[in-house]
Amino acid sequence: MVSQYFRPEIVRMTGYTPGEQPQDGGYIKLNTNENPYPPSPAVAEAISAAIARLPKYPDPLATQFRLKAAEVLSVEPNWILCGNGSDDILTIVTRALVAAGQTLRLPYPSYILYRTLAELQGAHWEEVFFQPDWTLPEQFASATGDLKLVFLANPNSPSGTVVPPAKVAELAQQLPCPLLVDEAYVDFAETNCLGLVTENEKVMVSRSLSKSYALAGLRFGYLVAQPPLIEQMIKVKDSYNCDTLSIAAATAAIDDQQWLRDTRAKILATRGRLVAGMRALGFVTVDSQANFVWSTHPHRPVRPLYEELKRRRILVRYMDYPGWGDGLRITVGSDEQIDTLLDVLRRIM
Ligand SMILES: Cc1ncc(COP(=O)(O)O)c(C=O)c1O
Repeated sequence: MVSQYFRPEIVRMTGYTPGEQPQDGGYIKLNTNENPYPPSPAVAEAISAAIARLPKYPDPLATQFRLKAAEVLSVEPNWILCGNGSDDILTIVTRALVAAGQTLRLPYPSYILYRTLAELQGAHWEEVFFQPDWTLPEQFASATGDLKLVFLANPNSPSGTVVPPAKVAELAQQLPCPLLVDEAYVDFAETNCLGLVTENEKVMVSRSLSKSYALAGLRFGYLVAQPPLIEQMIKVKDSYNCDTLSIAAATAAIDDQQWLRDTRAKILATRGRLVAGMRALGFVTVDSQANFVWSTHPHRPVRPLYEELKRRRILVRYMDYPGWGDGLRITVGSDEQIDTLLDVLRRIM
C-alpha cells in the first residue's frame, strides 16, 4: 500500500478534475471558457524574438510584464506578482496564508479548485452558499474560528454573475482576514475590484490571460496586492514560475489593448445572442458578465442534452453541485459555433 507513504490529507482527497480537453480535434469546444479567437499577432512576434534568450534562466519576477501591466492598470510594478496561470497565483496565496488546520472560506457553487487548494494544505474549508439570486448572505463576511483567507470569484463561475465592488468593499471591511477576488473573467464584466486594493490592504485581485487574451495554452496570470503582501508571496512561489516565452508573450498581449477591446466587443455581442437563443429554447439562463452562460431547464434534465451534444461533437460543461443542482455552463464561442449549438439543441429538444 503506497498510501502509507503519503500525507493522509493527500490520500483522502479526490483531486481536482479539469474540464475535458480532447486532443483529437474536431469538437466545437464550449466547455472551458476559452477564447474562440487567436491571440494578438504581437504574441507570435514576441515569442519568436524571445527564443534567442532560452539558454538563460527567465527573470524570476517577470519585470518586463510587471512594467507593462503597471502602465495598463495604473498601479506601481511592485503591486504585481506574476504566475504560471492564475491557478498558480491561487496556490501561492493559499500556501502563504493558510496553515494546516486553519480555515479557508469559499462561496458555493463556485470554482471547484478553491476547495482542492484547502485540501492540499490540510486546511478546513467552509462553503457559504450563494442565495438563489446569486447574491451572498451576510454570513460570507462573518469572523468565525480560525479564518485565514476568503476566495470570491467575481464574475463567478458557473453563474457569470458579479458581486458589485461596493458590496465587496463592505465584505472586506467586515472580514478579519484577506479576501482574494478572483477576476479571471473580469474583462467581460462592467465593473472590477482593482480600486479596492488601494483602499484596503486585505483585498487582493487575481487576473488571468487565459480567457480574455486568448492565451489559455500559455499559462500566465497575476496578482495585484499592496507591496508588503507581494513581498511575502514572493517567498512562497517557485523561483522561476514563469518562463521566458510566456513572459514575452504575456507582455505583448497586455500591451495590445486595442485587440482586447475588439475581441471583448465580439464576445459580448455573441453572448447576447447565446442568452437569447437559450431562453427561446425554454432554458432559464442567468444574465452573465463573463464569457460563458449558466443554463438550467425547468422541465427537462440537462445531462442527456450534454451527452447528446457531445455525441455530436459539441462540448459544453455539465456541472452538478450537490445541494444546489445541476446545469450547463456554455462558453461564448464564435457566432458560427453558437449558431451551430443552438441549431443542434433545437433539433434534439
Ligand atoms: C474562476 C476561475 N479562476 C481561475 C481560473 C484559472 O485560470 P488560469 O489558471 O488559466 O489563469 C479559472 C479557469 O477556469 C476560473 O474559472
